[in-house]
Amino acid sequence: MFEDLNFPKGFQWGSAASAHQTEGGNHNSWSEWEKIPGKIKDGSNADIACDHYNRFEEDFDLAKELGHQVHRFSIEWSRIEPKQGKWNQKEIDHYCSVSKALINRGIQPMMTLHHFANPIWFRDIDAWLNPESPEMFGNYARKAAKALSDLDIIWNTINEPMVVVALGHLYGEFPPGIKDFGKAQEATKHLLMAHGQAATQIREIYDELGRKQPQIVPVISTTHFMPADPNNEDDVEMTTYLDNLYNQIWIRGAVNGQIEELDGSTRNYKALENSTDFIGINYYSRMVVSSEMDILAGQTPPKDPNLERCEGLDWEVYPDGYYHVLKSYWENYSKPIFLTENGIGTLDDSLRRRYLITHLQQVHRAIQDGVDIRGYLVWSLTDNFEWAQGYESHFGLVEVDYETQERKPRESAFMFREIIESNALTKEIQEKHLSRKV
Ligand code: FCB
Repeated sequence: MFEDLNFPKGFQWGSAASAHQTEGGNHNSWSEWEKIPGKIKDGSNADIACDHYNRFEEDFDLAKELGHQVHRFSIEWSRIEPKQGKWNQKEIDHYCSVSKALINRGIQPMMTLHHFANPIWFRDIDAWLNPESPEMFGNYARKAAKALSDLDIIWNTINEPMVVVALGHLYGEFPPGIKDFGKAQEATKHLLMAHGQAATQIREIYDELGRKQPQIVPVISTTHFMPADPNNEDDVEMTTYLDNLYNQIWIRGAVNGQIEELDGSTRNYKALENSTDFIGINYYSRMVVSSEMDILAGQTPPKDPNLERCEGLDWEVYPDGYYHVLKSYWENYSKPIFLTENGIGTLDDSLRRRYLITHLQQVHRAIQDGVDIRGYLVWSLTDNFEWAQGYESHFGLVEVDYETQERKPRESAFMFREIIESNALTKEIQEKHLSRKV
């Protein structure tokens, strides 16, 4: 029934994480948001999280032991620029050590400049609603790139800008807690411009320092939108609208260099030229679209009771959507793709194993159909602070005991190592983990 699914030679495997979710000890827009009663489901905060700031060597030992070849992580803007224009060299040095710790273990660092959290000073001047925010972000990118340009790093600019926009400015579930479509549009534009500014600054400083240009990768969240009734024109139209709004706007802007203005017109933005070497795609689930629901107000049709779900977040497990998302990006933009996040929050590790295998089957299917995919990263290396869910979602290949900070690889971590070692989803792996519920 199963066959060996081989991945291309040189395909890169690893895991992803972010600073605020793992480090502990941050003071930023999120650390203050967490302290507002009711914002985090389990009432927790990321004050300690996984203490990764102090334990990164130990965590990277594990990543190495588990066969990872790439590790995606983020650096904390609030640590590096605690006050506008004031740089903290000690923190910059810290991230140099983090990057070197990966390189010394033979793991490729992929570094994200912004993963949801903002410095307090930036929050206080309206963050992404401030028209000068792209330049401010560009300055930070320049500083970081200058300090790290002698290391072989793949740069991610902004993680999932659409999540920053939608959850922060439309649904009000993430800071700054706004619910306003017009503001969401403004933030969209500024985040895209910020990506462009960051890419431009990174390119410039590498040139000035005579370094080989690095790869720059914007990372987007993708959802597979599908009409509740494919024969209902309104559902289909709404699906296309949402796909454009949530998925396509970003990459179209980053690849084609165009900013969509609030009045619907577009203009070319020079800083976006040459801003994207790969497209970084995060995929978790699908969304069924019914034109009868006000999706922009957070309404969604009932979930399919037959599909398995991600803990807490309630995302349906829908591997087929991965294939469609990958195909559509390749067809629309013809840029190589790096899969920067995929995984499931669950305490049922057999579900995690099934999730990883069934999603990798779809990745393989897309590759067979000509999609240029260069690598795949599991979210996440360890359990961590899952934003508005707190510690209720367990995404780690490695379990964390938050009392003792002890790490314990789950069986899925060893299964993933086998996949990496064979650069394939072998018949045996699929049989073992899919044929029966283990
Ligand atoms: C993504 C985020 C990441 C993590 C996963 C589960 O949207 O980038 O930080 O929370 O979801």
